[in-house]
Amino acid sequence: MNDPNGMFFYNGYYHLYFQYYPEGNVWGPMHWGHAISTDMITWTEQPIALYPDKLGDIFSGSAVVDLNNSSGFGATRNKIPVVAMYTNSKRLGNDEWLQTQSIAYSLDEGKTFTKYENNPVIENPGLKDFRDPKVTWDSIHQKWTLVLAAGDKINLYTSTNLKDWEFQSSFGEHIGAHGGVWECPDFFPMVVEGTNEIKWVLLVSINPGGLNGGSATQYFIGDFDGKTFSLDPSFNNDLENEKALWIDYGKDNYAGVTWSNIPDSDGRKLFLGWMSNWQYAQQVPTETWRSAMTTPREITVIKNDGQYRLKFLPVRELQNYVSKTIRKNEISITDKTVVAKSPLVDFTKADIQFTVSDLKQDVYTFSLSNSIGESISFGLNNKDHFFFIDRSKSGNTSFSEDFAKNVSKAPLNKNINDLDVRIILDKTSIELFYNNGTTVMTEIFFTTQPFDSFSINANAKPVEIENLIIKQLKL
Ligand code: FRU
Repeated sequence: MNDPNGMFFYNGYYHLYFQYYPEGNVWGPMHWGHAISTDMITWTEQPIALYPDKLGDIFSGSAVVDLNNSSGFGATRNKIPVVAMYTNSKRLGNDEWLQTQSIAYSLDEGKTFTKYENNPVIENPGLKDFRDPKVTWDSIHQKWTLVLAAGDKINLYTSTNLKDWEFQSSFGEHIGAHGGVWECPDFFPMVVEGTNEIKWVLLVSINPGGLNGGSATQYFIGDFDGKTFSLDPSFNNDLENEKALWIDYGKDNYAGVTWSNIPDSDGRKLFLGWMSNWQYAQQVPTETWRSAMTTPREITVIKNDGQYRLKFLPVRELQNYVSKTIRKNEISITDKTVVAKSPLVDFTKADIQFTVSDLKQDVYTFSLSNSIGESISFGLNNKDHFFFIDRSKSGNTSFSEDFAKNVSKAPLNKNINDLDVRIILDKTSIELFYNNGTTVMTEIFFTTQPFDSFSINANAKPVEIENLIIKQLKL
């Protein structure tokens, strides 16, 4: 599988569709696989929801719950329709295809879909890459809003019935990173934390051209008048010279988008990404499966020193999977010190948190390792201002030159005084949330045996670790 698609919440269930090729473990003619969950953590796979048709394969897209039946698809059976919008990608030849946008509706809460008879609903304007429609109900302007990737720009459309789409504007000229094709956008309003201010967030995946190589997702924050998205002026400096802000500075969080139809009473903006990178997605050393999604994350918009930023943290539902909690209030470290070991902790499923206050030294290195010398190390370089993650010794890395060629870095614009770290570990992935989710790094790895110890290297100067909490997860 690759991208998450069509995510919506309805009647107690989170739905996740995904780019899926059922005949093999490399990319092929795409379908929409389907899974459902009541908490975004435990998923039950469902039958395939969309199959390729005469207009082409079924590429990425989105789904909305049409509560007022604006599309009219619900009229005949008096049911609330779920409307999916996706790209039909028709292969014309080698490296040549025709991409158009189509819709399909479901009258059984997303189990089965009927394709609309007048597809495609948006014709191709003559672009090779024209795909990944993401529909949002814009309650401010009372319209359906659609963004899709058009080459290395974003096209914006509006509609009142999900069938007829009116082109409004395009975004992206001379803004952000352009080292590759833009893909899988998402566009939604959010209240800035602690204020009444509303800002619009645009997520844009790009491949290649990510800061640490290959696939990655950049973001923009600004205002929307119902037709045009304009970048907040505070962003202009940040984005000069093709610089961009990234939702995740690890190499493995791509094509992520948010759930639609989350009730106001919940109020969260919930996100999920594909935990891989096109540089090596089809070569990773797995056989019976290929690829996983990130831990679902809650997005917040914050304003810090006049700058808008996104913050991502794992959803609180993960707390329902804690089987045991180990706490250590203070640990003093002077050299490389093992702070936790198996069998007390099973590092293939753990949620580890701790704080280091009053940072005094240049580099803080944390590492997970096993008895045969495989390790992954990560941390903070507070002198040259970046977070890093190094998986070059993490076991099997030889399947792709790009997998461990570089240490991934997340730049900071100044040094920091306090550090809080949250680490979500699975068998083949690490998700790092620094300083309350203001910097995120997600990477996958393939050890030959599980990590069995977690250590901190104080680089010869004493370090006080506070509030170490290790939660064992039962998954
Ligand atoms: C992103 C992407 C999308 C496309 C899909 C095809 O990973 O390239 O742009 O719709 O994958 O599987």
